[in-house]
Amino acid sequence: MPSPTPIRPATGRLGVLTPGLGAVATTFMAGVESIRRGHSRPIGSLTQMATIRLGKRTEKRSPLIKEFVPLASLDDIVFGAWDPIPDDALTAARTAGVLDERDLARVADFLSAIRPMPAVFDNRYVTRLNGPNVKKGNTKRILAEQLRQDIRDFKAANKLDRVVVVWCASTETYIVPGEVHQTLKAFEAAMESNDDAVAPSMLYAWAALMEDAPFCNGAPNLAVDIPALQELALARGVPISGKDFKTGQTWLKTVIAPGIKARMLGLAGWYSTNILGNRDGEVLDDPASFKTKEASKLSVLHTILQPELYPELYKDFSHVVRINYYPPRGDNKEGWDNIDIVGWMNYPMQIKVNFLCRDSILAAPLVLDLALFSDLAQRAGMKGIQEWLSFYYKSPMTAAGLQPEHDLFIQQTKLKNTLRHLMGEEQITHLGLEYYP
Ligand SMILES: NC(=O)c1ccc[n+]([C@@H]2O[C@H](COP(=O)([O-])OP(=O)(O)OC[C@H]3O[C@@H](n4cnc5c(N)ncnc54)[C@H](O)[C@@H]3O)[C@@H](O)[C@H]2O)c1
Repeated sequence: MPSPTPIRPATGRLGVLTPGLGAVATTFMAGVESIRRGHSRPIGSLTQMATIRLGKRTEKRSPLIKEFVPLASLDDIVFGAWDPIPDDALTAARTAGVLDERDLARVADFLSAIRPMPAVFDNRYVTRLNGPNVKKGNTKRILAEQLRQDIRDFKAANKLDRVVVVWCASTETYIVPGEVHQTLKAFEAAMESNDDAVAPSMLYAWAALMEDAPFCNGAPNLAVDIPALQELALARGVPISGKDFKTGQTWLKTVIAPGIKARMLGLAGWYSTNILGNRDGEVLDDPASFKTKEASKLSVLHTILQPELYPELYKDFSHVVRINYYPPRGDNKEGWDNIDIVGWMNYPMQIKVNFLCRDSILAAPLVLDLALFSDLAQRAGMKGIQEWLSFYYKSPMTAAGLQPEHDLFIQQTKLKNTLRHLMGEEQITHLGLEYYP
């Protein structure tokens, strides 16, 4: 039996800070409070609902994950946020239009007390937005220092033991990693000189790491996914993860594509289109923000299907992703997928998927799990990129030179095996050795 990793207990309170107090963040906060008050169940959350099999099947040991690993309890979570729009969480939730009034009424007092701190915001990185609740400072370094102060003040005011930061703000315009992102030294110099390559999300990530708070990136912009900040995470012993919550269409893609490949069926093309009417849809209507999202959504199929190993089946498939801003649909995105597959003797077949999903309803439990697992990772001394959290992301961060793993079921196995490893349990290989001589 492997020995368990020493893990600091989850005593005291855990702060969860979100840059962004929009649809995802308010749905997450309202949901956690609704669960705490006994009005809802944590559907969609592994940390709250999933079990984990331990040992041999015959042992019949399958505890809840939250009873197996020492996670912070929902009762110990305190929320805070930054947003350029000054609305409190209740007003922001109403604007987002995800939850109905009956559900909001049950937590209205709680939500209205959550007011966003002034954001580090620059409209050049999110062109469709503007808001007055914004920090002022002559350099990006000064702005980032103000974020650090916010984290310290939030911690002190709420008597918190630990803080986790989860990026739930808008998708920023596309930035190609360059020189200033390569080392911490170059990055910090670029903060001083107000280099355009330093986006607000990177300042939040830098501030979080400097305050020893794990940083999770729910959007596809780079934020913590640059070598400079990975260097900082390792130096300070802080876990980081990203990018881009894996919710609607891409989640299904990473379920269906492994199934096609498992049966050695070919793929001629995959066309995905969406209509989306929330503020996220509006931001993504800007080609520069969409480019960031598109890159994230396009990457999954190649790594799952491995055309380099199976050129006959997957060499030249066509993959198209579209998002169209259509206000009447609100947060209830509708996605269509047309998948052209190829079978025995080259006969073509088609799969059509019409997914009427609710974006923030799918994303909220991921925010909760990421916050709790990142806090666990930190207490267990895990630092830098947390690949075992790839399960939650469309474009999982990996160490330099490694291919990310996109297959949802491999990601799930990796997540659960990491938990088993932490607690000194055997990894599960699904190989029933007792049947073999
Ligand atoms: N909902 C999903 O299923 C899903 C899936 C994957 C990724 N995401 C990403 O999550 C993010 C949040 O989505 P949403 O639907 O809540 O969007 P939203 O537009 O409702 O909320 C985003 C909020 O971020 C704020 N913001 C923008 N720049 C900021 C900054 N620099 N600092 C602080 N706040 C800032 C905006 O004012 C807005 O209130 C988006 O980037 C989206 O692409 C969402």
